[in-house]
Amino acid sequence: MWIKRRRGWEIPESRITPEAHFRNRRALLKAMGLGAGAIAGGGALVAGLGSMRTAEAQWRFGRGPAPERAPDPTADLYPARRNERYTVDRALTPEREATTYNNFYEFGSHKGIASAAQRLPVRPWQVRIEGLVKNPRTVDIDTLIRALPLEERVYRFRCVEAWAMTVPWTGIPMAKLVEYCEPLGSAKYVVMATFGQELSQHAPGLRQSWYPWPYTDGLAIDEAMNELSLIATGIYGKPLPPQNGAPLRLITPWKYGFKQVKSIVRIAFTEERPKGFWEEVQPSEYGFWANINPEVPHPRWSQAEERLLGSGERVPTRLYNGYGDFVANLYVNRRNERLFA
Ligand code: MTE
Repeated sequence: MWIKRRRGWEIPESRITPEAHFRNRRALLKAMGLGAGAIAGGGALVAGLGSMRTAEAQWRFGRGPAPERAPDPTADLYPARRNERYTVDRALTPEREATTYNNFYEFGSHKGIASAAQRLPVRPWQVRIEGLVKNPRTVDIDTLIRALPLEERVYRFRCVEAWAMTVPWTGIPMAKLVEYCEPLGSAKYVVMATFGQELSQHAPGLRQSWYPWPYTDGLAIDEAMNELSLIATGIYGKPLPPQNGAPLRLITPWKYGFKQVKSIVRIAFTEERPKGFWEEVQPSEYGFWANINPEVPHPRWSQAEERLLGSGERVPTRLYNGYGDFVANLYVNRRNERLFA
């Protein structure tokens, strides 16, 4: 029997944490000498105070260096050349906000997973390419990244929860990745999946056994080939940090954030439309297409406006997140589909 559980990002922001409380709490923690990294894990914060001796524990609470990590083997590729074709009419979100306010359920059902995600081992990392492809194979992430061109693009990003950000991603145009995978003519969809139980000792959220792990979602092939689709490897001119989906994640700026699978280990080409993680959990609220539309409310809240991370300003949401010129044509012959859930 299905038991419905409340998930953090499924409630309207007004019912999550009022911003003033969030800010006051941040100020309080600051006064205590603790940083923003500790905010969301209130219980863990109290429990952890007694053991702040190791460098890692100090970092978790915003003091001292991050745990030792080998330098990223692709660091020499950053910053990549910015592609000025993709411009935005908004200020960039401060890096600190975009990298400490995340959704990554494998590490917990709240926004403050950044410190927990530092435990994700992002090297060695392999990506399995399979399904309807000429040559199913497993590729090492560094071979993959070096085989394809990287560029920087500033995109708007809109979460279904009605918060938004504007960030510079570095990545591979997805069309190039699709070509690299050599799909067969019969392939209609591309499915991407995150790591699963094999990394559960590093990702405690995977113990939430009621979720259909691994986190999976997909695109129709023509969406994947659209010039906006990006497979990101970096953000703010550096390799992606784990909390934003290192070492490889999907970016489709005209779709709600839940489509944008993080920390990809599997890319499969299929004839059948895949069911995404959230569509599997709650099909009445989340569908396959998930295009942004201010006029189609979520069943439990409005999508007319969004709150910008950083400034907190509320601004009107735009159809396809303002990217209609690039993507509206993809949907002309799909008008009978549920395009905006
Ligand atoms: N990918 C995985 N593997 N797990 C997740 O929980 N959350 C999604 C998406 N990709 C998620 C994921 C949601 S709901 C959003 S809004 C974005 O990641 C958030 O990306 P960000 O944390 O880089 O802002």
